[in-house]
Amino acid sequence: MKIIKVKDYKELSRKASSILAGQLILKPKSVLGLATGSTPIGTYEELIRLYNEGVVSFSNVITFNLDEYCGLKSNDINSYCNFMKTKLFNHIDIREENIHIPNGLAKDIQKECEDYEKKIKKFGGIDIQLLGIGRNGHIGFNEPNLKFESKTFLVNLDEDTIKANSRFFNSIEDVPRQAISMGIKTIMSSKKILLLANGEEKAEILYRAIYGDIIPQVPASILQLHPDVTIIVDEKAGSCLK
Ligand code: GLP
Repeated sequence: MKIIKVKDYKELSRKASSILAGQLILKPKSVLGLATGSTPIGTYEELIRLYNEGVVSFSNVITFNLDEYCGLKSNDINSYCNFMKTKLFNHIDIREENIHIPNGLAKDIQKECEDYEKKIKKFGGIDIQLLGIGRNGHIGFNEPNLKFESKTFLVNLDEDTIKANSRFFNSIEDVPRQAISMGIKTIMSSKKILLLANGEEKAEILYRAIYGDIIPQVPASILQLHPDVTIIVDEKAGSCLK
């Protein structure tokens, strides 16, 4: 694991975007695995800046998002589809047909999950997967105590996650209880992984993920076994790291 410590969120976003931009310059047809949450917003802003400055193009880029809530329409303000459009896709030259986000409204969820896996394979797998980390150590929506070997699947969200994500909704009752998420196995199949963590609320779980036992109670701990992981942390999130 390569750990890059930076001062603050601004620096974290710049560093992450330059790693992603480097990937796109070296391989314009890259398959990017993308994440939602507050953490990557600054990275997306920086990528938009780099696009506007002509440094990168997304015209041949394929994307796969980690997860999507079940039961929200794609234009719902809280859907991850809407998040990705407003925070990134609407501002760059990506082609609509190259964007992949699980459909949380699919009638046959099992088939949706299987098709998602097939599509990732069809494009040759994910070149670089961007990740945040939940306060409980989840990556994507792989909550604690789930199987490491799972592929894209229907997940019941943890109470802790529902509480944490309720900050985006009118009330906690409005937070969906289920989501479709790439599984740990899907994430681990990416060629490279770039995990971002900022703020003191991530410090302890990040320490456990990097130096603790590799256990399903801390889903992100599995990343210790991946051959190409870069973790960018700001001073606060990195405060427990040696
Ligand atoms: C969400 C997402 C994750 C994200 C995590 C942390 O539930 N499913 O992909 O990494 O929570 O979010 P944040 O970046 O807002 O702390």
